[in-house]
Amino acid sequence: MGKGGFYISKAVGVVAILLGAAAVATIIALSVVYAEEKSKNEVKPTEGKPEPSPTTTKATTAAPTTAAPTTAAPTSAAPSNEPWDKYRLPDTLMPEYYNITLWPRLQRNESGIFIFTGKSFVVFKCLQATNLILIHSNKLNYTKFDEHHATLTGIDDPNPPTINTTWLKLETQFLVIQLKGNLLHGKSYRLDTEFVGELADDLGGFYRSEYSEDNVTKVVATTQMQPTDARKAFPCFDEPAMKAVFHITLIHDNETKALSNGKEIDTKNIEGNLLSTTFEPTERMSTYLLAFIVSDYDSIEQQDDVLIRIWARKKAIADGHGEYALNITGPILQFFQKYYNASYPLSKSDQIALPDFNAGAMENWGLITYRETALLYDPQVSSNGNKERIATVISHELAHMWFGNLVTMKWWNDLWLNEGFASYVEYLGADHAEPTWNIKDLIVLGDVYRVFAIDALASSHPLSSREDEINKPEQISELFDAISYSKGASVLRMLSEFLTEDVFTKGLSTYLNHFAYNNTVYTDLWDHLQTAADTSGVELLHPVRDIMDRWVLQMGFPVVTINTATGTVSQKHFLLDPDSVVTRPSEFNYQWYVPIKWMKTGIEQEKVYWLQQKEDKNDNMSVNGNDWLLANLDVTGYYRVNYDNDNWERLLAKLTENHTEIPVINRGQILDDSFNLARAKIVSTTLALRTTKYLYNETEYIPWQVAINNLDYFILMFDRTEVYGPLQAYLGKQIKPLWDHFTQITDNWTKVPDNHMDQYNEVNAIKIACSTGFKDCQDLVKYWYTQWMQNPNDNPIHPNLRSTVYCSAIAEGGDKEWNFGWEMFQNASIASEAEKLRAALACTKYPWLLNRYLEYTLVPKIIRKQDATSTIIYIANNVVGQPLAWDFVRARWDDIFSQYGGGSFSFSNLINGVTKRFSTAFELRQLEQFKKDNAGTGLGSGTQAVDQSIERTKANMKWVAENKASVLQWFTTESG
Ligand SMILES: *[C@@H]1O[C@H](CO)[C@@H](O)[C@H](O)[C@H]1NC(C)=O
Ligand SMILES: *[C@@H]1O[C@H](CO)[C@@H](O)[C@H](O)[C@H]1NC(C)=O
Ligand SMILES: *[C@@H]1O[C@H](CO)[C@@H](O)[C@H](O)[C@H]1NC(C)=O
Ligand SMILES: [Zn+2]
Repeated sequence: MGKGGFYISKAVGVVAILLGAAAVATIIALSVVYAEEKSKNEVKPTEGKPEPSPTTTKATTAAPTTAAPTTAAPTSAAPSNEPWDKYRLPDTLMPEYYNITLWPRLQRNESGIFIFTGKSFVVFKCLQATNLILIHSNKLNYTKFDEHHATLTGIDDPNPPTINTTWLKLETQFLVIQLKGNLLHGKSYRLDTEFVGELADDLGGFYRSEYSEDNVTKVVATTQMQPTDARKAFPCFDEPAMKAVFHITLIHDNETKALSNGKEIDTKNIEGNLLSTTFEPTERMSTYLLAFIVSDYDSIEQQDDVLIRIWARKKAIADGHGEYALNITGPILQFFQKYYNASYPLSKSDQIALPDFNAGAMENWGLITYRETALLYDPQVSSNGNKERIATVISHELAHMWFGNLVTMKWWNDLWLNEGFASYVEYLGADHAEPTWNIKDLIVLGDVYRVFAIDALASSHPLSSREDEINKPEQISELFDAISYSKGASVLRMLSEFLTEDVFTKGLSTYLNHFAYNNTVYTDLWDHLQTAADTSGVELLHPVRDIMDRWVLQMGFPVVTINTATGTVSQKHFLLDPDSVVTRPSEFNYQWYVPIKWMKTGIEQEKVYWLQQKEDKNDNMSVNGNDWLLANLDVTGYYRVNYDNDNWERLLAKLTENHTEIPVINRGQILDDSFNLARAKIVSTTLALRTTKYLYNETEYIPWQVAINNLDYFILMFDRTEVYGPLQAYLGKQIKPLWDHFTQITDNWTKVPDNHMDQYNEVNAIKIACSTGFKDCQDLVKYWYTQWMQNPNDNPIHPNLRSTVYCSAIAEGGDKEWNFGWEMFQNASIASEAEKLRAALACTKYPWLLNRYLEYTLVPKIIRKQDATSTIIYIANNVVGQPLAWDFVRARWDDIFSQYGGGSFSFSNLINGVTKRFSTAFELRQLEQFKKDNAGTGLGSGTQAVDQSIERTKANMKWVAENKASVLQWFTTESG
């Protein structure tokens, strides 16, 4: 298909005149028509995609979370067989290329709204004769061609049919054009439209973001198309398989810069201060990967084979906050070219930081958009966690440039492959940029354990959905969940491990080459991996497809039990709540083909053992004497492991005697598996607690972080009971050597540890030491914080330690410390610093300060609306704040409900957040009463959360009743 310059050069001059004239007329029209459309068709803002959050917040406690169901109830509207009543496009037409000119206005019009005007045409081919054109269109008003909204011309059909009628189908988001005759098979046609839309602050489609610089409010026009909002910017065949070439032109004033997927190739002055910037035509690509941005941003750049630019607010660029992103982008791109054995398909790579952005980042081809915190790095205030997040998010998005963008899933039901893949290889790309971090190990905390917590529930769902189950935009949005991202990443890592990375990348490379600029279903990848395995002589007991079906088509994962006395190995679907009932059938009866990498007494076994039945016997796995067996090395397999009691005892003994004989990830695994097996009543709670005893000798981050995540549940359940004293005493005893270790390696807290993981674990040492009452720790943080209070312009606290030092200092201090933190929060000019303070202010132990802080949360001028619920949750996480937050939420329910509406996602987080400690009959009654009291006005999107909270409270009550006595006794004995 031609990429010639014809349409580009011709369009520029004509467009300027047309748009100029059209604008005046339509600005007035818009406010009327758009308002009408809005009321008839209340469309929720797109959720966007939840890109990975920082590892520090990703780490999960074992508390149950709910997974989103994939299948939604059937449409309430009466079923109809008209093509425009269906959500999917018919197979009759295929776009070839578009020519789009858009003009966003960065000032309000006379009616007080922001708009954009546009003019576009699409050339498409008719694959089956039809008298109907269905093209996606949402919230656009058509401003030309009278009631037909469009004109149709034939490219190679000299007698194209004329338009009969045209209308907008709001429910299914179509512009419907009925013709008087047929479009002919094999012929191409061109459809022209002109339209106007609102440049709203709704974070979807073509939208606006605002920020203030030098006390001037600035407006950025930007886009978020994925999954189904390109149709909100211009009429298009808005499905991922409807790939086409896009010729794009943006009109903007000469104080601003326009960006899109392709490089700018021409900028013309069209009248007064208006410019028209044209971009090189895109490759053949999906609509959801388009991006159009107009801003007055600055950039920094590097030109290797590919032009790399980082864009941000002028001040952020001037302050050097884009440098880190610029420095690592080149190496990461090079890594992926080598990994995929395919060169970067485009001539440039732009990355841009936006003040308002729903997701973490979006992989628009050639123009990646980010939240500011996911791209901008300031060594003066950013922690190593902030830095890691930037490296992994950039790596994730760059991975998509091939996997997802060059080769795209045919339909959204295969989203998990796209996101799971990027979520896996983001660790590989980041590792290449920061080889000293050992970041690949962190996938176990950040993805495997994170999603285990959800995938162990009876209400989980499989990775794969059937194509016909996913139709509506809401159903598509629901797929962007932890299962798609983190379970997808976990099983692809397992696959790469058992195939070997060499075979995996070989298959990947032929897959990408074969399907370049085209679409696939996930089994296409299996086929290419199979061929790679066959040609490399890797023998598998079953075809790749058969092995993967069991992980992809069934929800959940197994617990593998190895009896080392007999060598019996068996598997069972692991459920966190043993009383829960699985109603979802599985054609594989919840059995898997399980690859087991294992070691015997410190010696790694060469051959992977495959468990293929429910139960099997492997004589090599029977051990005796002092030998011990450890399975699922480095947790490369997506399953938990249980052993006979003797082997557990031998592992515990080994941890005590010389824990370094067990690989570090598996030290964490022994803790995490045993705590979760205890929750599921497969092993005793005291066995799980005993795995923490060796921590006295442990200095590594991963096992400590796993322990903290799991003990967090004990703290939540018992911090208001007599168990808490002995629990704290035990933790204090265990943390002492770690505290001493860091005192030493940081030269008495004056130096930053070299090692990335040590930097994280230093934070753990301070957090636990201070919270368990270490005088040295409390004095240290008080000293730092006081120094800062005396000299607010010179913060002596290292960015890595700020979150925890602020929290400890405010917890130990009084209103002076709180008020200082509050003032610093209000003055913070950098988002990540404000975040740290906002969380720390919830750490005070004074009820009156907490109550005042709660009041502030509902004053949007003080706490931004988007931060209100998370602030209330921070307060509820504090044992003193918990009852205050619960009272506050109940007392102010009507305010909260009206201010934050029933639709927002954080609303159910709020209910879950303030009730997660609930574990008594009294609290259960309060919750049930709360549900009853609000039965009339309703709980909105909190409805399901209240029911979940009731269920969780009951489960907690049961757990506490069953475990409290033994837990108390254990901590009492062990803390002595
Ligand atoms: C923008 O255009 C106006 C009108 O032609 C001109 O006066 C002004 O200097 C231009 N500004 C820039 C930054 O080029
Ligand atoms: C895309 O792939 C399909 C199926 O393999 C093939 O029939 C088609 O020709 C390909 N299209 C392009 C443009 O490569
Ligand atoms: C502990 O195990 C490690 C790794 O096997 C070994 O290098 C070290 O010498 C052992 N230490 C002791 C005290 O046995
Ligand atoms: Zn992604």
